[in-house]
Amino acid sequence: MAGTAMFRPSEVAVATQLLDAHLAGDEDYRFIGAFNAEVDGELVGYACWGPTPGTEGTNDLYWIVVERTQQGSGVGSQLLDHVERTIRAEGGRLIVVETSSRADYTGTRAFYERRGYTRAANLPGYYAPGDDLVIYLKDLTDG
Ligand SMILES: CC(C)(COP(=O)(O)OP(=O)(O)OC[C@H]1O[C@@H](n2cnc3c(N)ncnc32)[C@H](O)[C@@H]1OP(=O)(O)O)[C@@H](O)C(=O)NCCC(=O)NCCS
Repeated sequence: MAGTAMFRPSEVAVATQLLDAHLAGDEDYRFIGAFNAEVDGELVGYACWGPTPGTEGTNDLYWIVVERTQQGSGVGSQLLDHVERTIRAEGGRLIVVETSSRADYTGTRAFYERRGYTRAANLPGYYAPGDDLVIYLKDLTDG
């Protein structure tokens, strides 16, 4: 994920901590990986999500990332489908996604919007001056 050049080093460190927590058996952080069968099963993307503490059926999508050379070929959609199906199967209701307002996230925001996520809130300057937090929601009970 550092290779996407989109995440700050501090964000990469948080993602590593989530994976460590998962590997240590913490069920609040769930992972799914996408692997390239044609290239020795190399990891080309992953998603991390989990139930939001203190809520009824809300889940946070903590990360979704696809290796830069593989983006735009459907891997992210497959990962997101898997996350949504798993949450639904486990009785989940709502998915929350946090992303950035930065121009280099325009494709990312379009990715969520075309998959039924609606922009629910904007926190100006949250990440840095001029870099807002954009919160998306998807209600899995709709349709
Ligand atoms: C956002 C991301 C996970 C989508 O995964 P993906 O495998 O590229 O997505 P898909 O191929 O399934 O779908 C491509 C769609 O995403 C959009 N998109 C977003 N970023 C893109 C990119 N860098 N290249 C191509 N398409 C991109 C396209 O507009 C396309 O839209 P459409 O299919 O609805 O017409 C991936 O591009 C990525 O890892 N981006 C960088 C990290 C990131 O922003 N993560 C989310 C943090 S909140």
